[in-house]
Amino acid sequence: MTTSHFHDATNTDNRIRPEALSSVSETMLMTLYMHALESRRPDALIRDPYAERLVGQIDYDFSHFKIDDDDQAGACVRLRQFDRFVRTFLDVHPDGVVVHIGCGLDTRFDRVDNGQVMWYDLDMPPVIELRRQLLAETARYTMIASSALDLAWLDLVRTQNNRPFFFVAEGVFMYFTNAEMQRLVLALHERFPGAELVFDVCSPLIVGIQNLKLKLMKADFRMRWSLHHYDALEQWAPGIRLLEPWYYVDIQESIPRLQRIKTLFRLFPPLGKGMVLLHYVLDSPT
Ligand SMILES: C[S@@+](CC[C@H](N)C(=O)[O-])C[C@H]1O[C@@H](n2cnc3c(N)ncnc32)[C@H](O)[C@@H]1O
Repeated sequence: MTTSHFHDATNTDNRIRPEALSSVSETMLMTLYMHALESRRPDALIRDPYAERLVGQIDYDFSHFKIDDDDQAGACVRLRQFDRFVRTFLDVHPDGVVVHIGCGLDTRFDRVDNGQVMWYDLDMPPVIELRRQLLAETARYTMIASSALDLAWLDLVRTQNNRPFFFVAEGVFMYFTNAEMQRLVLALHERFPGAELVFDVCSPLIVGIQNLKLKLMKADFRMRWSLHHYDALEQWAPGIRLLEPWYYVDIQESIPRLQRIKTLFRLFPPLGKGMVLLHYVLDSPT
């Protein structure tokens, strides 16, 4: 566990104010807050002391987020599952390279650090500017201020090319168009053959429901990418393969707070299968 790259948080008069964030980027404050709230619960699904620490350091009225218990539990099992994917990769490739696309203020590096991984956190420039005030780079931890869609960033991580790569994007790709996704995935496939990619995506039905909610909330952004068939990326280039889908309904353990939503998902399978984490490998064509 690495804590040394957190800037000093002892002076609460110097809390940091987020500036110039887009509405999409502001959603990262909500996930951060959910992770912090969850950590304090006696029945916490995740422990994320770093999220608690960052919430304390940021000058923002987090209380205006009306957080639903189900949504918080859902966000936390999602985080937990993403962490598991990364840990499994690092168990096999302890000195691998992880690129966290659209990292927001998530501190996955600190949660999963094995002392060897080379880690890149990438997000839009205003987000990284905020991150830099909270966290410092180290020899194994680098921040990249760039849109994921401006592919010049690929050159910044290519120096590690002899090490296996893992790209992870949580709560991000649904804001891109299909054409943007195709361009990004094909570039990763071409430049990092053999890399693994894990991300979450929804069916068109769920995206429709989410966009209705965003409209009612008068949000100025919408979800744009959805998949009818979760193996669809395999058609984009030979060698791209879906390794496994992970569904919320697959959770075996009993989580009382998720029971209501799990029952709904079981009764209406299109809802249950409408939200998924996908684990792909971007192999060269055989
Ligand atoms: C819902 S937040 C998720 C943040 C983080 N992954 C988490 O789970 O807490 C969406 C994130 O995607 C980032 N994002 C949106 N468009 C992006 C782009 N074109 N390139 C990089 N990041 C982007 C936002 O700035 C924001 O941090």
